Amino acid sequence: MKKLEKNQIEALIDQAIGMMDYSYAPYSHFHVGAALLAKNGSVYGGCNIENAAYTPSNCAERTAFFKAVSEGVLEFDAICIVGGMNKELNKYAAPCGVCRQVMMEFCDPEEFQIILATSKKQYEIFPLNELLPLGFGPDNLT
Ligand code: THU
Repeated sequence: MKKLEKNQIEALIDQAIGMMDYSYAPYSHFHVGAALLAKNGSVYGGCNIENAAYTPSNCAERTAFFKAVSEGVLEFDAICIVGGMNKELNKYAAPCGVCRQVMMEFCDPEEFQIILATSKKQYEIFPLNELLPLGFGPDNLT
């Protein structure tokens, strides 16, 4: 697993927290920000985007992935996720199952690192395979 430097982790946490400003969550009031680090060094921000019809809502993580993939960027090292009710960061916002599956599509589950944070001082890092054991991915279809 690629070792992320402390300053790199802190920068991703700052970026994810910054993305919460754009979170559009008038229904749940649960605001989420994400910062996705591509292997080429670019960082793609994402926020959750809700909808009055509820089901078209999109999570912050998938917003970040789809921004990157839509620009031809397909390889990633890490994602930082922060979120909370009314933007209060008092516990980790772990990715939903659908977002874990999207990560599985583009990332090596043993290498891809998921940083859950409540502040620059409080975070934990999980490899994707820990949050999605025995995940089904592109390799299953070869
Ligand atoms: N949400 C995310 O953005 N990411 C997750 O992984 C969990 C849930 C959003 C979706 C919805 O806008 C709100 O949080 C409450 O579920």
